[in-house]
Amino acid sequence: MSYLINLEGVEGSGKSTVINFIKEYFEDNGQEVIVTREPGGIEIAEQIRSVILDTKNTEMDGRTEALLYAAARRQHLVEKIIPSLHEGKIVLCDRFIDSSLAYQGYARGLGIDEVLSINQFAIGDFMPNITFYLDLDPEVGLTRISKNKEREVNRLDLEEIHFHQKVYEGYEEVIKRFPERIVRINANQEVERVVSDIKAVIKDRLK
Ligand code: TMP
Repeated sequence: MSYLINLEGVEGSGKSTVINFIKEYFEDNGQEVIVTREPGGIEIAEQIRSVILDTKNTEMDGRTEALLYAAARRQHLVEKIIPSLHEGKIVLCDRFIDSSLAYQGYARGLGIDEVLSINQFAIGDFMPNITFYLDLDPEVGLTRISKNKEREVNRLDLEEIHFHQKVYEGYEEVIKRFPERIVRINANQEVERVVSDIKAVIKDRLK
């Protein structure tokens, strides 16, 4: 079976660490898996990513930002995600549409419905099969990433804690809209526990 699974959460919630353990889990079960990310995943979308996240682009308007994320998503979907699903692979994606709804729709104040509608133009009715939301207090997440000196600093990292709190609230709104698809995982525990909680849901839901 092929599935698109995305991981979501505030900065420092551990998505990129966890995603590699989930990849191993599927591979141990004989599945072909690709790990990808948004914005990015393919050349054109990585180019768009560098424009969006460039710390010099402080003038960028919120709608421009939302449209660029949606454009990168469109290209990623048609060029990589859909072909991989057609090949029977499991696609694990570090962020997808829910990030746009929480960050641009809610935290930037553009409106979740407005951002959903530009994303529907970009990706039609395509949605992930299941979404894991790594639930973590943004202050804890920001403290975690401040300790990781190798991590690149991007334009959204320059936002104040208030913005990240809004992102957190935004995710709560997004979960209310998609309660079937989005599964909340407590990310304020050891990585092993986070991974085993996710595996338990996968076993139950994706038999
Ligand atoms: P990351 O690769 O470190 O998660 O960085 C991507 C940044 O872009 C992160 O701050 C979240 C943000 N983002 C949005 O605001 N909207 C989106 O649709 C996506 C995919 C990411």
